[in-house]
Amino acid sequence: MTRKVPRHVAVIMDGNGRWAKAGGKVRLAGHRAGADTLDRVMHLCREAGVEYLTVYAFSTENWKRSKTEVSGLMKLLSSYIRNKEKELVANSVRFRVIGRRSDLSEKLQAEIANLEEKTKDGAFTLVVALSYGGRDEIIRAAKRWRDASKPGSDLDEGLFSSFLDTADIPDPDLLIRTSGELRLSNFLLWQAAYAEFYFTPVLWPDFGKEEFEQALEAYSHRERRMGARPAK
Ligand code: IPE
Ligand code: IPE
Ligand code: MG
Repeated sequence: MTRKVPRHVAVIMDGNGRWAKAGGKVRLAGHRAGADTLDRVMHLCREAGVEYLTVYAFSTENWKRSKTEVSGLMKLLSSYIRNKEKELVANSVRFRVIGRRSDLSEKLQAEIANLEEKTKDGAFTLVVALSYGGRDEIIRAAKRWRDASKPGSDLDEGLFSSFLDTADIPDPDLLIRTSGELRLSNFLLWQAAYAEFYFTPVLWPDFGKEEFEQALEAYSHRERRMGARPAK
């Protein structure tokens, strides 16, 4: 029997700071190690037949962190985006960003737009949530819908979804959070309505093949009823 594989995996990449602290390193070293984990997990997703990977890289709340950490993270993101073009194109990865882009520097916004354009024909989709908050995304979608429709227009779930940042991306099937925290922290509030959750105490920089395998294995045993029950 073939194993049920999630089409879309979403990950709250958490625990970089604790990983750094445990090794006597600065927090940014944890984020750097976290970026390597992302490459590893993307490779594992493609091997497993997953088609979409969405990762939470920076939340709308993460701006509250120290200036040093925020600027270090922005530099890391910028260099990741600049250095990955060749590799992503060669591996047929489509790069996408969701979140409140206007918060990012113009330079970073331009780098993102460039990478999205260069990778737009990729078969596998990597979605990076940047200055992303589920509530913020819903508010921006509501405003876009308001501005695009005639007064008194009707709205349904399908139409509303088309105004979200994830308009052309299917909902996540499996949502993983590392580092032992058991919360969503404002990630994909709308899209995760029926996602299967997998929590692990492993810190993101330590998350590897074995842990990913365990998450896929757990997912394959989940019964996704979506509220329905077979008629008896
Ligand atoms: C996740 O790791 C990465 C970001 C939020 C940018 P953290 O930085 O939250 O790590 P902990 O939770 O402090 O260990
Ligand atoms: C969520 O992690 C955001 C990212 C992983 C980018 P946080 O570490 O910021 O979340 P809280 O503060 O523990 O809820
Ligand atoms: Mg954290």
